[in-house]
Amino acid sequence: MTLDEIIKKRRSIRSFQPTPVASEDLLAICEAARLAPSACNSQTWRFVAVTDSDTIKRLCNEAMRPVIPNRWLAQAPLVIIGCSQLDMVANRIGSRISGIEYYQIDLGIAMEHMVLKATELGLGTCWIGWFSEDRVKEILGIPKKIKVSAMLTIGYPKETPLKRQSRKTINKILFSEKWGQLFVVRT
Ligand SMILES: Cc1cc2nc3c(=O)[nH]c(=O)nc-3n(C[C@H](O)[C@H](O)[C@H](O)COP(=O)(O)O)c2cc1C
Repeated sequence: MTLDEIIKKRRSIRSFQPTPVASEDLLAICEAARLAPSACNSQTWRFVAVTDSDTIKRLCNEAMRPVIPNRWLAQAPLVIIGCSQLDMVANRIGSRISGIEYYQIDLGIAMEHMVLKATELGLGTCWIGWFSEDRVKEILGIPKKIKVSAMLTIGYPKETPLKRQSRKTINKILFSEKWGQLFVVRT
């Protein structure tokens, strides 16, 4: 598959077959994250790969927030917890000066590398951001100083996902040279 095909194929998948994800696939997915760029090459991302179904059920039952309880999570064969171990230079001094939380950008890039690699391997994924960080830390024994910002469910899709969720047109998200100025293709 080309990168373009992978990007177009990817959808958020919220129902999975019970088939486990092979260890070599999990490693290939994590290798894709390992090669991601990061501010000052700080590589602050850390991942916890959870495959134990009781632990996944606990995450689902005890760590999701109300209104969007993400019930489907309980059936996922693999959940990757996206964590950050903040470093002194980029993430404490640098972030204080610039006001930019580099570790969040770094983790997002690394985890989207995971998503794209998983898609290439025929696996489905869905990001989860609606959870209680404290509850996740308690369940998985993650130290207080570690930041948990995202989860990713991974597994073989149960059904072919429906059509793509709508997207804004390019004119709404891309400006040219200055804010608000329409991008025009030059010929
Ligand atoms: C940071 C982030 C957090 C998300 N959190 C959730 C979530 O808690 N539950 C959920 O069902 N989907 C979640 N999603 C998936 C989005 O709803 C989904 O990407 C969006 O609707 C576009 O659909 P698509 O991924 O199929 O293109 C999240 C996505 C991102 C990037």
